Amino acid sequence: MSLVANPGRSRVPDSSSKGEVMSSSTTHAVPEKPRLTVIGTGYLGATHAVAMASLGYEVLGLDVDQAKVDRLASGDVPFFEPGLPELLREVMDSGRLRFTTSFDEAAEFGDVHFICVGTPQAHGSHAANLTYVESAFTELAARITRPALLVGKSTVPVGTAARLIGLVRAAAQDPELIDLAWNPEFLREGYAVQDTLRPDRLVFGVTTAWAEKMLRAAFAPILEVGTPLVIADLPTAELVKVAANSFLATKISYINAMAEVCEATGADVNVLASALAYDDRIGGRFLKPGLGFGGGCLPKDIRAFAHRAEELGVGQAVAFLHEVDSINNRRRRRTVDLVRELADGDLKGVRVAALGAAFKPNSDDIRDAPALDVADMLRAEGADVIVYDPQAMDNARRDYPQLTYAPTFAECVKGAQVVVLLTEWQKFRDADPEMMGELVERKAMVDGRHALDADAYRAAGWEYRALGRPAQPRTVQLVEDAKDQVMVAAT
Ligand code: UDX
Repeated sequence: MSLVANPGRSRVPDSSSKGEVMSSSTTHAVPEKPRLTVIGTGYLGATHAVAMASLGYEVLGLDVDQAKVDRLASGDVPFFEPGLPELLREVMDSGRLRFTTSFDEAAEFGDVHFICVGTPQAHGSHAANLTYVESAFTELAARITRPALLVGKSTVPVGTAARLIGLVRAAAQDPELIDLAWNPEFLREGYAVQDTLRPDRLVFGVTTAWAEKMLRAAFAPILEVGTPLVIADLPTAELVKVAANSFLATKISYINAMAEVCEATGADVNVLASALAYDDRIGGRFLKPGLGFGGGCLPKDIRAFAHRAEELGVGQAVAFLHEVDSINNRRRRRTVDLVRELADGDLKGVRVAALGAAFKPNSDDIRDAPALDVADMLRAEGADVIVYDPQAMDNARRDYPQLTYAPTFAECVKGAQVVVLLTEWQKFRDADPEMMGELVERKAMVDGRHALDADAYRAAGWEYRALGRPAQPRTVQLVEDAKDQVMVAAT
């Protein structure tokens, strides 16, 4: 059972019928400003640690990777995230944030421990790899000698928290000192700082009143400004995250499925999407057609969710997620088709400028990046592909050494016979089609992200193609009918 609650009006759900409860007698004190640890300092953990310290908490960040800890401790963020380096340096100067590799130090320091380690897709399976989560919980539990709340923030298959309770209990010196909660995180890369400091909601999965009070104390400044709070049991809190990401992925694949229908009928998916977006019930966000979704969350989360549902015997309930994944992957192949079409049917030896490598703009993350997948498929067909990205070059070079990279945007497009836009960085959106036209050998553009002004490109002499849009621009005539109403007729 769960309920939406305003701060100050919630109650702990009745979890007695739900099985596992960490402790029935957690009546420890609640510090006004609990000391926090953050276990795992990747995108999620580093941002969470910095944001909580900026809100005035004493925070200790822990990672098993000494190099990462050293970089963070010297005020350097090991990945690209706008606004985070400035905030990190500010809180390091304040002395409220420190980093360590020692679980002993973390157990000694913290009242509330946020576990933010990764749950990547397991090798050879769609399941999530939970090794890091299990090890973080048990390493900590084994060392705890004072009342502590262990809070999972990692994205996990539903039922994980209940299983962790058993593992924590077995590992702990005194299980009565420890309680466990789940607090899913919804931050978007590129907006991680603002999403952490001003989330659209907080979700607390708890089984005791003490856990709820501790979380309220740990998030007091965020709750005080009226952030909606949902109190839930543990499985519901775990599900919120995968259900949200599955919905977003489905919405993107829905409009991309419509793009396929548009391609077969000569309709225009861009116009279709904007008409759908006017309906408040549908809304325009995450309805942007194009090359589809990638990144460290959406693809792996929908696969892990489908896998878990099958384990639970409810695979059919989310069988559509397999289709969502297939639609998404088809967009990548269709982008290659469009480039091939512009190359007169054969990619061998054709110079292709691939603009973008990151899975989305304002990020250097290349996990499951549609851009690099497309660039590599083009290379495999014999194209002479050259890639440029404003931030993700180092990561791309490391994981895709078989591709060729240009040092600048201009170098990338120079001499290109086809240009394909794969990640919609502002720099690419702002490019002048006239000036770019001077650099290329042939003015042929595939806009994989519907990010460019098709009319401006065509006016500058480019052949412009985008997924789900007609190859030729349509002339649109305004026709007045008998009642003086305006109809739009495409010719
Ligand atoms: C996502 C969720 O949004 C976030 O709440 C969760 O915590 C982590 O996963 P993120 O992976 O940072 O965040 O990226 P997001 O902004 O959601 O974009 C995901 C992918 O979808 C990108 O590849 C993006 O290009 C694509 N996308 C997004 C579309 O193709 N069309 C859209 O309309 C929106």
